[in-house]
Amino acid sequence: MTILRIQICCLLFCASLYICHGLFCLPEDHAALFIFGDSIFDVGNNNYINTTTDFQANFWPYGDTSFKYPSGRPSDGRLIPDFIAEYVKLPLIPPYLQPGFHQCTDGANFASAGGGALVETNQGFVIDLKSQLKYFSEVERMMKQKVGDEEARRLLSKAIFLFSIGFNDYFVRLNSNSTKIGQNYVDMVIGNLTSVVKEIYNKGGRKFGFLNLPPLGCLPVVKALIPPTKDGCVEEVTQFVKLHNEALSEALHGLQTQLKGFKYSYIDFYTSLNERIKAPSKYEDGKAVEDKEVALEWAFQMVNVGSEWKSVQSEARECMNGGWFLNSGSGL
Ligand SMILES: *[C@@H]1O[C@H](CO)[C@@H](O)[C@H](O)[C@H]1NC(C)=O
Ligand SMILES: *[C@@H]1O[C@H](CO)[C@@H](O)[C@H](O)[C@H]1NC(C)=O
Ligand SMILES: *[C@@H]1O[C@H](CO)[C@@H](O)[C@H](O)[C@H]1NC(C)=O
Repeated sequence: MTILRIQICCLLFCASLYICHGLFCLPEDHAALFIFGDSIFDVGNNNYINTTTDFQANFWPYGDTSFKYPSGRPSDGRLIPDFIAEYVKLPLIPPYLQPGFHQCTDGANFASAGGGALVETNQGFVIDLKSQLKYFSEVERMMKQKVGDEEARRLLSKAIFLFSIGFNDYFVRLNSNSTKIGQNYVDMVIGNLTSVVKEIYNKGGRKFGFLNLPPLGCLPVVKALIPPTKDGCVEEVTQFVKLHNEALSEALHGLQTQLKGFKYSYIDFYTSLNERIKAPSKYEDGKAVEDKEVALEWAFQMVNVGSEWKSVQSEARECMNGGWFLNSGSGL
């Protein structure tokens, strides 16, 4: 597994290393953040689409901890991409669909609660991964207009592309009477994800970060659908989560051998959440420091910016509460 590198030193120290296009200047090592995925990463895109409240989080108690208003994040506080943006000293990356979006050189967030790698997943209510890619192409066009083709490509080659996708593709299957999830279905989900990754690579993207699937078989929302069988979790669900995670890991390894200069980080969300489920007392209030460390470790693994940790002083509990932890009744 290759480790991603961005050098932030120049953001901080070498004011001379700026690249300018007319009046518009960026530090030479400026790295943008592009975010794709589902509720784990959605900072409010679903506020701006025609959907139902099942797929939205722009009402109380969401947002209670950090923003003091329901921003649309399916969490009481910040999400993983927010922590990463803070860590690399970018502004929080806004939802792409937020009216007035224009700061494209910092990146964009396309994630949509309920979204999947497959177009059919919650179709009509969410922004699927292919549509997220279309929006990214739009941002690429904006970047080219702003800084020119060559510089846009250079910026994309330094940018970080984060993904959290797949949960909903499986969840919609659990929710229906359709046939069991097998290797073919997993291959389809992974195939659609890797085809999006390849297109971003073709546009110049080189640095990627992926969350694997958490232990879905242990989530209350899943246990309410299917009676748990083993260790309080639904074993058949755990099995396909493992299939997915193995296939993802293999696919990413494959991309790295296929695509010159492709670098990625694979974040083991499964183990991290599983440890919380197995030993919750280790992660109670007052011991949130450990959660903070874990969230920061993820941020670190995803962008591996260096060793300077102090810049992020955050309550990581917020991001651990994200998505379906809070809204466990819906299909997020
Ligand atoms: C939004 O969805 C509702 C229900 O499906 C539909 O009646 C309405 O026309 C849609 N609105 C827009 C602007 O697409
Ligand atoms: C599943 O199948 C049963 C029996 O055929 C049917 O009554 C039920 O409505 C179906 N549920 C869904 C979600 O399709
Ligand atoms: C992507 O998903 C569609 C179903 O939405 C499927 O037909 C197609 O084969 C998948 N593509 C890949 C490359 O797996």
